[in-house]
Amino acid sequence: MDRLTADSLAAHAFLHFDDGRESRGTTIGDAIGRFQNGAHLYVCGPLGFIEAALTVARGLRWPESSLHREYFVAPGDSGATGVERGFTVRLARSEKTSYVPPEKTTVEVMSEAGIEIGVSCSQGICGTCITTVLQGEPEHRDSVLTDEERERNDQMTPCCSRARSRTLVLDL
Ligand code: FES
Repeated sequence: MDRLTADSLAAHAFLHFDDGRESRGTTIGDAIGRFQNGAHLYVCGPLGFIEAALTVARGLRWPESSLHREYFVAPGDSGATGVERGFTVRLARSEKTSYVPPEKTTVEVMSEAGIEIGVSCSQGICGTCITTVLQGEPEHRDSVLTDEERERNDQMTPCCSRARSRTLVLDL
């Protein structure tokens, strides 16, 4: 709170507290307001709160590309198909090809091949490892990309996501 109320942010920071008393409460919709061009909404906290805030925002016509969330733990639905398969990863710039077996992540296999991909959470929730996909179809298991970003299939989180296609070509 000290940082949010410091000089440079004070004019832009509005604090709402939920202390359990309805009379002092505010609705999520009141706090968010209608979408305005260029605005971005960042939500973190308990899963139920995140989902509620995003649902309200969508109802207020916020586009998916402006909605961002940070989970503290990976949510239950990981996007996994239930069948763990291996796949091949080709690195376009490094000109290396490696096989990712079912029991390893792409980040682990790349590390063994001498290619370090920066990671932080290793659970698909922080976005540190997001990597450009040049070819192939990722099996997205993260909680950080938006639905629109996932559908484009041009980036992925190699710390946890895998491949639907036999081969992925990454911009590494
Ligand atoms: S390291 Fe956090 S999303 Fe991959």
